[in-house]
Amino acid sequence: MARLIVQPLSRPLGGSVPVPADKSICHRALIMAALTHGACQLEGFSYGEDNVATQRAFAQMGVRIEDDAHGTLRVHGVGLDGLAAPSGEIDCGNSGTTMRLLAGVLAGQPFASRLVGDASLSRRPMSRIVKPLLLRGAVISGTPRAGAGDEVTAPLSVGPLPAGRRLEPLEYQLPVASAQVKSALLFSGLWASGPTLVREPLVSRDHTERMLSALGLLIETAGPIVKLHPPADPKSIRPFTVELPGDLSAAAFVLAAGLLSEGGVVTTRATGVNPTRSGFIDIVRRLGGELSVVPRGESLGEPRAEITARFSGLRGQSVGGELALRAIDEIPICAALAARATGCTRFFDVAELRVKESDRIAAIVAMLGAFGVEASEHEDGFSVEGRPSGRLRAAQVESRGDHRIAMTAAVLGLLGDGPTVVDDVACIATSFPRFVGTLRALGAQLEIEP
Ligand code: S3P
Repeated sequence: MARLIVQPLSRPLGGSVPVPADKSICHRALIMAALTHGACQLEGFSYGEDNVATQRAFAQMGVRIEDDAHGTLRVHGVGLDGLAAPSGEIDCGNSGTTMRLLAGVLAGQPFASRLVGDASLSRRPMSRIVKPLLLRGAVISGTPRAGAGDEVTAPLSVGPLPAGRRLEPLEYQLPVASAQVKSALLFSGLWASGPTLVREPLVSRDHTERMLSALGLLIETAGPIVKLHPPADPKSIRPFTVELPGDLSAAAFVLAAGLLSEGGVVTTRATGVNPTRSGFIDIVRRLGGELSVVPRGESLGEPRAEITARFSGLRGQSVGGELALRAIDEIPICAALAARATGCTRFFDVAELRVKESDRIAAIVAMLGAFGVEASEHEDGFSVEGRPSGRLRAAQVESRGDHRIAMTAAVLGLLGDGPTVVDDVACIATSFPRFVGTLRALGAQLEIEP
């Protein structure tokens, strides 16, 4: 298994780097491109394994995708009535977003399909999409898990919808805010006989709404309520070109490394700053970190900016509620910032972290402990007692197959008193294939050992 050896920093990190394209937006752009009637162009695709899983799924359903292997994909959309039965089971790999969003798409199809995933994805809860899709007449079932009550997991079997039957209109209140569930229901709504109305307790990332609206679909939002009207004509979605913004969730690792490196100044280019997703920026500022954000245009309703982080003294704070939701994937790297802040930082309202690629609350607390930082678990979060000065204890960290745990450990390793070893780091390629090279370009020393 590949491991990462991270050397303590010997000089300040500095430079300006690109980051991979936003993973959430790439999944949605691939889905919508496949459903338009005509050729679409996706620019800046970065081949993270999660997005490649979605790309392959559509190729399996007969969508022709020309790929120049340098980040430009030409997707020949087949219209809402043009997907073909997949050539075999669809392997979603490690990608929860692929599985949940595709379940919504497949629920509206007249053919059968089966969605499978790796060991981590096969442990993650799927009732959250199966239940509401059943409510609108979908044919879908998951796999019961011993000891998990009525929860179901992958593999998922979807369809076929019986000939002549359409999905029904839906009004659904999400018990927990989730962009994956909201988006699965909105996508399924493209094939419904009437509107889809989804209400969330708080507003989760709104990439799907922005994209559907930019493509001219009839979608209305009012705070946490979204309503989509299905298009009358299956060939009416217009082809588009999109410049994919950089992924703030990937940039966060690079920016955090800059914030924690004495004398560091680090910039990420063309990074997505959708406000429903940019809680990381607000958390950094709340902790006293210096970030400057310079707008750099937008594409298909998604704003981009150049973000610069400067080494800053940080102080402990509380992070929960909508702020935590807007940074849900950045909580692991925010924990690394908390590890270097004065005083205690408490993260609450983040119970969802228990059902991500790993139980991230347990993984974060164990990782911080390995670096000699005191941290404790709560049911819905964790607390960190910062160690702002001196070097951290160099650690050996097990990634648990979770890319964001692996990258957080790598960033903390830069502050160690000797080499840090992060085990099982192949998972980093799910979201940030060039992570190691990017940190190196900024002056860090780290190496993958096969
Ligand atoms: C995502 C939504 C979030 C996030 C995930 C990507 C998306 O998950 O954690 O990494 O693209 O919709 P939930 O919707 O489960 O909160």
